[in-house]
Amino acid sequence: MSLAGKNALVTGGSRGIGRAICLRLASMGAHVFINYVSNSAAAEETEQMIVAAGGVADILGFDVADSAACNDAIKDLIKNFGSLDILVNNAGITRDGLMARMKEDAWDAVLDTNLKGSFICSKAAARSMMKKRWGRIVNISSVIGFAGNAGQVNYAAAKAGMQGLTKSMAREFASRNITVNSVAPGYIVTDMTRELSEDIQEKIKAEIPLASLGNPEDVAGAVAYLVGDDGAYVTGQTIHVNGGMYM
Ligand SMILES: NC(=O)c1ccc[n+]([C@@H]2O[C@H](COP(=O)([O-])OP(=O)(O)OC[C@H]3O[C@@H](n4cnc5c(N)ncnc54)[C@H](OP(=O)(O)O)[C@@H]3O)[C@@H](O)[C@H]2O)c1
Repeated sequence: MSLAGKNALVTGGSRGIGRAICLRLASMGAHVFINYVSNSAAAEETEQMIVAAGGVADILGFDVADSAACNDAIKDLIKNFGSLDILVNNAGITRDGLMARMKEDAWDAVLDTNLKGSFICSKAAARSMMKKRWGRIVNISSVIGFAGNAGQVNYAAAKAGMQGLTKSMAREFASRNITVNSVAPGYIVTDMTRELSEDIQEKIKAEIPLASLGNPEDVAGAVAYLVGDDGAYVTGQTIHVNGGMYM
């Protein structure tokens, strides 16, 4: 139970990869705060799963792209529970389309949620971490931020931006014993990838040396390593969890 006594906020913790991270951190002893934006039923289900497994969790709904809502929620968490020790910036969306036809609102929505949201949440969380001289921030980026992808200029730019954010924060906060790393998943089975047609999923599998899509738990394992005792000397790094599709 290496995270006993730690408070952990997982943005987008209601479903998919975020849910698996919530369950994993709770199993390590953290008090987990499950963030969501619209699907309260999914957030409640995640909370029930944690409680059923003997863990401790609360739900904290807010839009990560709304800086006032984000700051208020994190301030209240710190006031009511004493500190925020672990932040996983996982909330993310896609608004795919070829660049020639992409509207600016699709660009803004993806950049605001995936990149600006990570900046806002990290800034709010870092105040508490700096005071305690201990903190762990993990940004969930993507293989697309490294390899690029036709039809995803907005998503690729946001995820590549998260890499720069990760390294710069790692340098700024290291002296306060706060580590900042990223985990870059490949294709993982969640609602986000269930949207892809069978045909596209088969084409993707053909590009993956391990020949299958990953599971949310594969990503949660990498996060667990980075926030747990074993990852204490690791900062500014990226763990790629992608079945070998990008090396
Ligand atoms: N699945 C993949 O193959 C894959 C690959 C690489 C990277 N990733 C990244 O991994 C992360 C999780 O992906 P996923 O596949 O698990 O996605 P998902 O199943 O679509 O779930 C998205 C989660 O983000 C939350 N969310 C979306 N917009 C939000 C906002 N503005 N404020 C707060 N929460 C918000 C959703 O909340 P609600 O439930 O309320 O909608 C949900 O919990 C994302 O950052 C994604 O880019 C995924």
